[in-house]
Amino acid sequence: MKALSTNHQNGLHGVLQVPGDKSISHRSIIFGAISHGDTEVSHFLSSEDCMTTLHAFQALGVSIEHSDDQVLVHGVGLKGLSQPRQPLNMGNSGTTTRLMIGLLSGQPFPTKLFGDQSLSRRPMKRVTTPLSQLGAGFSTTEGRLPITVDGCPTLRPVNYHLPVASAQVKSALILAALQADGWSTIIEKQQTRDHTEIMLNAFGGEIQKNGLILQVKGHPQLSGQRVTVPGDMSSAAFFIAAAVLQPGSEIVLKHVGLNPTRTGFLRVLQRMGATIAIENQTMHGEFAGDVIVRSSALHSVQITSSDIPDIIDELPLLALMATQAEGTTTITGAEELRVKETDRIAVVTEELRKLGAVITELPDGMIIKGRTPIVPQGTSCVDSHGDHRIGMMLAVAALSVAGDLSLANDAAIRISYPDFFADLDQLTGGFAR
Ligand code: S3P
Repeated sequence: MKALSTNHQNGLHGVLQVPGDKSISHRSIIFGAISHGDTEVSHFLSSEDCMTTLHAFQALGVSIEHSDDQVLVHGVGLKGLSQPRQPLNMGNSGTTTRLMIGLLSGQPFPTKLFGDQSLSRRPMKRVTTPLSQLGAGFSTTEGRLPITVDGCPTLRPVNYHLPVASAQVKSALILAALQADGWSTIIEKQQTRDHTEIMLNAFGGEIQKNGLILQVKGHPQLSGQRVTVPGDMSSAAFFIAAAVLQPGSEIVLKHVGLNPTRTGFLRVLQRMGATIAIENQTMHGEFAGDVIVRSSALHSVQITSSDIPDIIDELPLLALMATQAEGTTTITGAEELRVKETDRIAVVTEELRKLGAVITELPDGMIIKGRTPIVPQGTSCVDSHGDHRIGMMLAVAALSVAGDLSLANDAAIRISYPDFFADLDQLTGGFAR
């Protein structure tokens, strides 16, 4: 249980560099491992999820040196992985699991994967169904973990139309297609984050993109690279939200990843009336830049399915922002939220109602009536339900609470942002309570 910083009246101020991007950190280990030569990663996110990926590749026989936010991966090539001695523990990480299932599909040995309670509830058929078409075999527990991947070293190329908008599923298929004989075609339902495609290109692979159609060549010669991971927009989002909501704030977040498939949160906030500026843009494979945020009054917004992939991880925060916006916000087309680390529609509704929000749950989203003061309703405790993003969203909400508020299951925050509370304290000037 963690006592949250409440009674905050002075706004957020200062300059901060948020930790490395989680999606890119995972992929830097994966591509480093399956390339020849060394890959040096800087500003790596050493959070529980990314360490799950790092440890899994060590168990697959890859030598990896790690200290602080620096990683050195001694790549073994696509054919150099070895059978792990024990089942691989995927912890809480959906990204590790799905990308690993894709990669292991083309390996000449079986591997068993298991995970924690939350991960063991999440759907895996979305990857095993298309990967079976390439020739891999799977034994699952009703489409969930634990799962054994029976790798097939002679995979067939695939032509697959993704039924869900998911970068994890797309990436699993790309990693399998790298081990197939010939060109595979993967057609996305909607554009999702494209870090896998960008990194594959940078490591020497061949991937062509035409609208939503991707073509991937099998058996590329990948060589190790230097990767500097930009700051994680999905982590920056918590401070952006806090600065917008707390009057008198002005913050600068340095070198945040600005890949357009990840900046939907900024676009939606601007539609709600927020003042956000970008400076010092750079482009080294991925766009990055400094994000400058000031507090602003917000109005409601309509969020529909075409917005969702670019804001998928920021929707809990947007629900909080909507409680502080004038008018009624509607979020639809977000049914994927129900199969994240928690059912994020149910959990956001339950937890924000504890703070006075007026929310109607929809099968695929929420209707949120603003503005409602953030006031605990007969409780002094909110709960992350073991979901890192819910925990951090509630810590942002707490800044507006007059009185005490505690967070149950705060340890979940280590999944993506181990130093979150220290960084929040830096911008808020420490505990106001
Ligand atoms: C991720 C993709 C998204 C996102 C997750 C990370 C990735 O999941 O929610 O946090 O790194 O590919 P889906 O692809 O399942 O939507």
